[in-house]
Order: sequence, then structure tokens, then C-alpha cells
Amino acid sequence: MPVTCVIGLQWGDEAKGKLVDLLTDRHDIVVRYQGGANAGHTVVRDGRKFKLSLIPSGIFRPEVQCVVAAGVVLNPASVLGEIDGLRNLGIKVAENLMISDRCHVIFPWHVEEDRLLEQQCGDEPIGTTLRGIGPCYRDKVGRGLAVRLGDMFRPGFEAQVERIIGAKRDVFSALGSAAGAAIDAKQVAAQYRGYAERLAPHVADTTAYLLDAVEAGRRLLFEGAQGALLDIDHGTFPFVTSSNSSGVGVSVGSGVPGRYISKVFGVIKAYSTRVGGGPLPTEQDNAIGQQIRDRGNEYGTVTKRPRRCGWFDAVAARYTARLSGVDSLAVMLLDVLSELPEVKICTAYELDGRKITNFPGHADDLRRVTPVYETLPGWRDDITGAVRLDQLPTNARKYVDRISELLGRPVGVVSVGPDRRQTIFAE
Ligand code: GDP
Ligand code: IMO
Ligand code: MG
Repeated sequence: MPVTCVIGLQWGDEAKGKLVDLLTDRHDIVVRYQGGANAGHTVVRDGRKFKLSLIPSGIFRPEVQCVVAAGVVLNPASVLGEIDGLRNLGIKVAENLMISDRCHVIFPWHVEEDRLLEQQCGDEPIGTTLRGIGPCYRDKVGRGLAVRLGDMFRPGFEAQVERIIGAKRDVFSALGSAAGAAIDAKQVAAQYRGYAERLAPHVADTTAYLLDAVEAGRRLLFEGAQGALLDIDHGTFPFVTSSNSSGVGVSVGSGVPGRYISKVFGVIKAYSTRVGGGPLPTEQDNAIGQQIRDRGNEYGTVTKRPRRCGWFDAVAARYTARLSGVDSLAVMLLDVLSELPEVKICTAYELDGRKITNFPGHADDLRRVTPVYETLPGWRDDITGAVRLDQLPTNARKYVDRISELLGRPVGVVSVGPDRRQTIFAE
């Protein structure tokens, strides 16, 4: 499998970090290509838990090259903090981490704009991670007020920052915010020059590097952030993130053409979670939801917010599996459902008196659907020690098989606990 992608098929936190770490030893290069420090990927190795935001989950193998590609938005202070944190834990972060000079840079005003924008949404905020992700991508698309990592090394950087801050002051004062007045252009430019100096050993033309790598037949692993239902174009807009987080985003963010991709893993939790606002048709705002939250420790990696929990939604996941070109499914956190007397899968929606199996394109329609459930018997056994499919209770296997059938894809991986060892490779 020379070029593999790991794509979350739900609303994020599907345990992509665990799968990427597991697949890393079969690859030469691990690439993050969209999103930013809104992501929180957990890797558990030898009982130690690591949380990564921007740095690819391949970082634990020093011989693997980690790449943060052009489509990522980067807060230099966050990435430097993450690098320091990993080094303090004895993890090598040196030439094995490469960051694109094309990455767009997050400044303090983006974080402030994120906060103000959330307030302007009234009683229906998006529930962002407040990391300045949306405002940074907006400036990228708008072009005039954007800074790329490569700009921070150029002579015109101070003047560029001063001009942008002038424009941002106007924006803030129009919004009635005092934040603009507090920004000191010289100080920001000097601070970011300092960041640039520290990041310099990692900054490179990753687009050229990745094109050379695929043309030479090297084995690449693309690590998606967020989940396909949070995709800016194909997700539950406007309750989405600001990048293409479904499989279609791999080429856009990395610069590697889709024709080189040979395998796409679609990562799903055995149930549904969502953090932040927006419709979640199968949400269980009741004792079952709480049981899933407790057993799955469903609290945000980044923001610590309790995640909303519900039954597995096969309508949504079938849509995103198709959208992302998924070959094989990785069913994660199956152990969380143990002990429930019965488990449910949403196999269709009812909308305006009609039964549908296609995923509605408008969030308002998705909010109005009634899930149609299929109920399967649960299993009581502890499955956290299973290493082969035939060690799973029959009902757990039936549940996984039914998901596979509904999504029209084989299951390649089943995860029964956070540790690397708690994994069943089914293929
Ligand atoms: P990501 O953002 O997709 O990488 O996922 P997160 O790291 O945000 O959330 C997944 C959480 O589930 C982490 O705390 C993992 O350690 C944990 N985890 C991963 N696989 C399993 C599993 O099979 N069972 C259980 N119980 N926890 C898991
Ligand atoms: P990983 O990679 C879960 C959600 C936020 C919010 C929406 C927009 O760990 O799966 P943003 O800050 O991106 O503008 O927020 O997207 N969100 C995530 N939810 N996992 C993530 O990343 C997320 N990244 C963003 O909660 O609803
Ligand atoms: Mg996460």
C-alpha cells in the first residue's frame, strides 16, 4: 500500500491518531494536510498517552519523515509548544519534521475574530475550538490580509504585518471591539520573526518534496484531521470546519494528485459523537448517551467539552465513505458499546413523511429528519483483549458485519481499546 489515507467519516475524533500510529511502520512519510491545532489526535504507546494537534502522528518513529503540508493553518506558538512538549518526553523532533513554507499563519487577531464571530452567530454558534482556524482560512481565501510561513523569512514581513494590522484595526472598531487598539505591530512582527527563526530548520517546499516522493514510489500516509461531515463543502454546513476534511481534501491540501492514492481507510467510531453545534440525528440526550460518554471518555481532546453521543448513523457514514473513496473501514471504540442490552443502527431517515437513505445537503433538513433504527442484540463480554475477529462475541461481530454491509465496504480494522495492542486486523 504505497499511498494510504486515513479519513474520519463522522464529526471528528474517530481515533484517527491511533490508526495512523499503527500504520506508520508500513510507511516512509506521514502527512498532515488540512486543519490546524483544532485537531487533537491521541496516540497510546506502551501505556503512555500522547496528544498531538499539528504534528503528524508518525512522529514516534524517528526514521519516518513527518510533513505538515501546504493546506494546514499554523499557529507558530502552538507548533513550537508542541515540539518542545514532545522533546521533553524524549521524542525526536528534528529534520524528521518538515513544515510547508506555504502554510498560512494564525495571528492573535484570528483568535479574537473567531470569538467575535461565534458571538455574532447568536443562539446558534458553530461551537468552534476558538483556535482562529476559520478566520485564518478566510484571510487565505481573501488573500489581501494573509501571511504564509515563507513570508516570515522575507525582508518585507514587518511592512506586511503593519499593513494587515491597520486593516484589522478597522475591522475590530467596526465590530465595536477594543482588540485592535491593543495590537502593537512592531511587537507582533518581532515576536513572529522569533518564531520563524526557531521554525527555520523545519521549513521547506513540501509540495516539491511530496511530488518527488510519490514519483519515486515512496510510501506515504495521509493523516486527515476532523471528519468528513465537518468538510467545508460537503459537510453539515455551516456547522463545519473551514477546510476539506473529507477524502477529497487530500490532494488540495498536500499537492499530491489523487491518482497516486492506492488505499483509503475510512475511520468510524462504533457510535456517533459530535462536539460543537449542528444537527446530530441519532443523538441520545439521555442515559444511553451518558453511558456512551462515560465508557468512551467522550470529552474533547482540545477543548475538554463533553461530546454529544448517539447511535451509529449508517446514512451519514455511507455518504462520507462514498465521498472519500473509502476502500476499507476501521471500526474504532467497539468496546465502548459492550454491556448495552441492545444496540441500534440508523439505516434510513424519515423526512416529510418519506423514507430516504441519501444524506440531506442542508443542515435544516438534517435537523428535521427522524432516524429509522434497526435494533441488534448487545453483548456483555469484555472485548478489550480480543486480537482476532473470532474472539469477538457473535453479537459484536454481527454488529460490525452489519455496518460493513450498510456502508458497502469491508472492515479492515476493529479497535477494542486505546492501546496499539488492542487492535484486530481483519484483512
Ligand atoms: P482523533 O482525533 O480521530 O485522533 O481521535 P481522538 O484522539 O480525539 O479521540 C479518540 C479517543 O479514543 C482517544 O482518547 C483514544 O485514546 C481513544 N481510543 C482509540 N481507540 C479506542 C478504542 O478502540 N477503544 C477505546 N475505549 N478508546 C479508544
Ligand atoms: P480531530 O482531528 C472534533 C469542530 C468544532 C466545531 C467545528 C468548527 O481531533 O478529529 P473550528 O475550530 O475547526 O472552526 O471548529 O469543528 N472540530 C472538531 N471536532 N474533532 C476535531 O478534530 C475537530 N476540529 C474541529 O468542535 O464544531
Ligand atoms: Mg480528536
